[in-house]
Amino acid sequence: MKRGIWEEFDGYREIINEIEAARKYREHIVPGKYETAPYIERLHPAKLNLRIADIIEESSSTKTFRLVSESHYLPPFLAGQYISLYPAIGNIRTGRPYSISSSPNQIGYYDITVRRVENGLVSNYLLDEVKIGDVLECSGPAGNFYFNPVVHEKTMVCIAGGSGITPFMSMIREIVESGLDRAVYLFYGNKNTGDIIFHDELTELSKRFSQIIYTPVIEEPVDGYEGECGFINGAVISEISGDHGDKTYFLCGPRGLYDFCLPELEGQGIPARKTRQEMFGPPTNIDEYPGWPSDITGENVFTVAVKGKKPFQAKAGESLLTSLEKNQIVVPSLCRSGECSMCRVKILSGMVFQPAGTMVRKSDRKSGYVHSCVSYPLEDLEILTVS
Ligand SMILES: Cc1cc2nc3c(=O)[nH]c(=O)nc-3n(C[C@H](O)[C@H](O)[C@H](O)COP(=O)(O)OP(=O)(O)OC[C@H]3O[C@@H](n4cnc5c(N)ncnc54)[C@H](O)[C@@H]3O)c2cc1C
Ligand code: FES
Repeated sequence: MKRGIWEEFDGYREIINEIEAARKYREHIVPGKYETAPYIERLHPAKLNLRIADIIEESSSTKTFRLVSESHYLPPFLAGQYISLYPAIGNIRTGRPYSISSSPNQIGYYDITVRRVENGLVSNYLLDEVKIGDVLECSGPAGNFYFNPVVHEKTMVCIAGGSGITPFMSMIREIVESGLDRAVYLFYGNKNTGDIIFHDELTELSKRFSQIIYTPVIEEPVDGYEGECGFINGAVISEISGDHGDKTYFLCGPRGLYDFCLPELEGQGIPARKTRQEMFGPPTNIDEYPGWPSDITGENVFTVAVKGKKPFQAKAGESLLTSLEKNQIVVPSLCRSGECSMCRVKILSGMVFQPAGTMVRKSDRKSGYVHSCVSYPLEDLEILTVS
């Protein structure tokens, strides 16, 4: 094996020895045989059945769903993490991630806060059809968008757009409830004041706690509106939050927010290593993405043959995962943003489009696996699903 800097680290040799022993005596380490397995399963359950205990109207387009556990136990989470919901809508079984908006101190329930997406399958289902008492199958908490005291500065500059406020709401609630030694400059962009979620609570918290500095930014304000207007830009961020030396920048919202705000932060001299961004779903209008072939539109249709199943037609502009689900082929999913690898499928023949920056493990890439949630057919395909 090539010698690397890793060998200098304490414990490197012990870990390698353990890996080698595990490979050699594999039959002794079947998961589930360990005494720790039940504890791990409690902390990281594969699936949870959560009952809707309450529905809170936040705005004309947004509701909070209060979810309690059928087993009376909810795994702990870090403020900023999400759960994925797996509803069956008509004959489609699908999944969507939603950040937990309640505080991690609240162990009785998880709140998720859902905004309507025009023509969106799951958001409209949740907002219009789900009622108190319904039980939803969900994942356990997941995701990497949280404050890490080892690498992040204690002062966070949080930049949210629309429903992207939800992970920050959980973080802010935890900070004020637990009296944590942390400060938050929150910049929250919305089209108009009626769209702002949690406005009253955020206003109240910023009055009571000097370390919560809340700035709503309204894109299309009514005449006479006195707050910040337009998009959240670098000048406003710097003017209100000051020098960037002792701060970490967190962004969460629709893709347009990243496209606009990341260059703005860069323009203020804030290095990329000081920014953290949450994914918030698959790209919209994939056929307008850089690198998309000019001779194919999102409406082009290709045949997808899944080994052992009847072939079906899939639109180029729709992710492979969505097309599979529409054809009753269930593939495990979690983040639906290309990060978690749960939705891997193997491409046996044909080509897919994957937006620039899509991360696929080296070994997966080598053996032809892609993340189906961010892969789009550009030819007829033959694929193998993992489940
Ligand atoms: C980690 C993570 C956390 C999330 N947390 C929340 C949350 O707390 N609250 C919340 O409301 N949503 C959240 N989302 C988004 C959520 O998972 C769904 O994508 C969203 O509800 C739309 O799903 P849908 O089925 O209604 O729309 P779909 O049927 O999936 O999409 C319909 C159309 O709308 C487009 N579209 C999809 N999502 C969006 C979007 N967000 N904005 C604009 N257009 C879109 C699609 O490209 C498609 O063209 C989160 C996403 C991720 C990845
Ligand atoms: S569901 Fe996470 S990578 Fe596709």
